[in-house]
Amino acid sequence: MLNRRWILSARPRGRPTTEHLHLVEDRLRPLTNDELLLKNLYISLDPATRKRMDEADGYLPAIPLGGTPTTTVLAEVIESRHPDFRAGEIVTSFGGWAEYSIVSPDVMTARITATPDIPLTYHLSMLGITGLTAYFGLLDCGRPRPRETVLVSAAAGAVGSLVGQIAKLHGCRTVGIAGTETKCRRLITEFGFDDAILYRELDTAGLAARIHQCCPQGVDIHFENVGGTLLDAALLTINPGARIVLCGLIAGYNTQTSPGCQNLWQVIARSASIQGFLVKDYLHRREEALASLRRWLSEGHLKVREHVETGIEIVPAAFAKLFDGSNDGKLMIKMASEPFDRLNT
Ligand SMILES: NC(=O)c1ccc[n+]([C@@H]2O[C@H](COP(=O)([O-])OP(=O)(O)OC[C@H]3O[C@@H](n4cnc5c(N)ncnc54)[C@H](OP(=O)(O)O)[C@@H]3O)[C@@H](O)[C@H]2O)c1
Repeated sequence: MLNRRWILSARPRGRPTTEHLHLVEDRLRPLTNDELLLKNLYISLDPATRKRMDEADGYLPAIPLGGTPTTTVLAEVIESRHPDFRAGEIVTSFGGWAEYSIVSPDVMTARITATPDIPLTYHLSMLGITGLTAYFGLLDCGRPRPRETVLVSAAAGAVGSLVGQIAKLHGCRTVGIAGTETKCRRLITEFGFDDAILYRELDTAGLAARIHQCCPQGVDIHFENVGGTLLDAALLTINPGARIVLCGLIAGYNTQTSPGCQNLWQVIARSASIQGFLVKDYLHRREEALASLRRWLSEGHLKVREHVETGIEIVPAAFAKLFDGSNDGKLMIKMASEPFDRLNT
């Protein structure tokens, strides 16, 4: 069988383009024992994949030159050599920027039980890695208490918008930072944030002044998705004992050196804590998070935005949207039609 897939052909110095990524077509190898052949229906595009295009290993090994970027996929099992999975089942798994992926099921591979009230794509957004990131990042690392103030960067994005909504469900005041007027409006009207801050064109001092205005009681939890100026400004507004959750540093993903953090002293001065967070450390607790997320969803407490583009050819152009802010929710690529007639029950 032929498989079209993107490969990393050169390491980008800035934003990756089709100078660094090439679409190739080759023949799939036969499966070995315990492997699955997946037909990718939707693939998730995630900011951190950009860091893996650099040479240095991170929380996952760097993508080798000639290798296919890996990511979470929603897929149909086409062939199974694994006792726990059958052809025709729908799963989420760790596949790639490709039409087909061969995987050895591990903690990243889960069978999807489709229900009529939940769109299949939610298993890549709210009920996928995005939802788990918001849930465990906020609740385990942030440890919110009622009436505390939670500040979120990239707040209108996939993870950020859920963090704000979950914080609200825990009785917190929520303030989001985003890159356009439209996104700021949406934070309040759609995602229920108490206030919103447009960060563009503000320096650290200007941004800190806006945060002070919107968080008159100071910031108890800062959920950081961006880094750079946004983190520096947030540090100037934290309360004693504040918790800073370092979930992502997207402002630095396209540079060789991360933008420095000038105001770390505030962490000492406020006896605050900073915790790096990785969702993969929490996958063994997936069911616990999913039970809450499903309940909040069915009660109408959670809203999700998804930005779906179609076709494998579009992947690099769509990926770039994460870095100029033109994605409008959880970014994913629709690769093939959903097999509605053969969903798991
Ligand atoms: N630690 C983990 O386990 C884990 C897991 C999943 C995701 N993450 C992290 O969570 C963050 C959000 O990921 P996501 O998938 O939900 O993406 P997203 O927020 O839906 O999209 C990325 C957003 O980041 C903002 N952004 C991009 N470049 C920026 C810059 N230079 N300065 C300020 N804002 C910038 C843009 O929003 P604006 O228009 O508002 O600028 C853009 O829409 C990322 O940092 C990602 O790496 C971490």
